[in-house]
Amino acid sequence: MTSPLAQSITFSRSGKVAPNAFLKSAMTERLCTFSKEDLNERGKPTTEYDHLYKVWGEGEIGTIILGNIPIDRTALEAAGNAIIDRRSSWDPVEAFKPVVAASKAHGSLVIGQLTHGGRQCPFDVNDHPVSSGDVRCPDMMGMHFGQPRPATLEEIDELVEAWAYGAEVLYKAGADGAQAHAAHGYLLSQFLSARVNTRTDDYGGSLDNRRRLVFRVIEAIKKRVPKDFIIGIKMNSADFSEGGLTPDEAKTVAVLLEEAGVDLIELSGGTYESMSFEHKKESTKKREGYFVEFSEAIKSALKGTARVCVTGGFRSKEAMEGALLSGATDMVGLARPLCGEPYLCRDLLSGKVNAAKENKVPAAVQTGTAIAQLSAIAHNKPIPDLSDESQTNDLVAAITGKKDESKPVDGHEDRSYVSTEKQE
Ligand SMILES: Cc1cc2nc3c(=O)[nH]c(=O)nc-3n(C[C@H](O)[C@H](O)[C@H](O)COP(=O)(O)O)c2cc1C
Repeated sequence: MTSPLAQSITFSRSGKVAPNAFLKSAMTERLCTFSKEDLNERGKPTTEYDHLYKVWGEGEIGTIILGNIPIDRTALEAAGNAIIDRRSSWDPVEAFKPVVAASKAHGSLVIGQLTHGGRQCPFDVNDHPVSSGDVRCPDMMGMHFGQPRPATLEEIDELVEAWAYGAEVLYKAGADGAQAHAAHGYLLSQFLSARVNTRTDDYGGSLDNRRRLVFRVIEAIKKRVPKDFIIGIKMNSADFSEGGLTPDEAKTVAVLLEEAGVDLIELSGGTYESMSFEHKKESTKKREGYFVEFSEAIKSALKGTARVCVTGGFRSKEAMEGALLSGATDMVGLARPLCGEPYLCRDLLSGKVNAAKENKVPAAVQTGTAIAQLSAIAHNKPIPDLSDESQTNDLVAAITGKKDESKPVDGHEDRSYVSTEKQE
């Protein structure tokens, strides 16, 4: 029997076809230019950024999502992000063409993830960010966040325009689609969340109001790009924090997004306040995917025109195939495993391996080690092998600053893709 992972995926609105069911989920690369003072010197793709995607492009990954690309050069997830901001003096279409071409060179589809940090923008990048309200993100993981202010209605209009502009740039640069990042507590997720969104106008209060910005962004993108361009979203299946987006709300939003013509719904979970990139329940441990149960419930409520991808936790071919065969998802999203093994999808498809290598790094530090690995690929250096304890200990010590290996790693330096350092 052919593996369901090898089956092509047709996106029904755009008609685009991915060669297989693997999706490389967005991962911040922090490989682009950054200057604290000169905003024009922020976010330009570099040869290292392009090289990283050249390697991933060789790996038979059906769909490649570029790591988060802020649509506002003052609202980064971290220094070194790639940025599409129409105020920048350089030509973003030309600047993004190489990374798109490198990703697509062997038949993968490529989608850019467009984001805005909102209140999760690190203090040293923006000390007074806009958000859906004025609830400050608590300091955590060695990070400090500024006091946010609610975006004005004029700023909301500008944000919608900026997202549409970002999609248009990606289209002109040759990408197959754009994904709005509405997960993990970034700006669109801040609007969706009743915990953070304290507005009393048309953008706050009821779910219909909290989802308004997301839907305006989708509609604006639809108007700006041709029909054969994939419009995707990454959203939480739940925020997993009190008062945050609930599983029922997520399901309602997903159903309406499909009705609105979204082609790809990628499901994840958590925010900086409640990162969920590790197992919380025994039942999901067996199925590996952290959010498969949520995905099952959401997908069964959809009509089937949007492709669903659940991301998080998959490591073995058996679990990936199981998720596809059970109908919980159409696609399998992978992130951390592709940093250590950029050719993992190819090797799983050919039968060379049956699972990703074991990662011996404590969960709390795995984002930092993943960034170190992707940086090694980008710089054409040997990739640290995290199944090898001696390499793991050295890398963890370098990232956490803890030289004494007998001390437990508490993860304060890194729980998500949030440590602000730009990779060299
Ligand atoms: C280094 C790193 C960077 C990440 N950056 C992003 C990002 O830019 N956008 C995003 O939506 N998710 C980001 N994530 C989350 C991943 O896309 C994915 O949802 C999560 O790691 C769970 O998948 P995994 O278990 O296969 O790693 C990042 C994760 C890692 C490890």
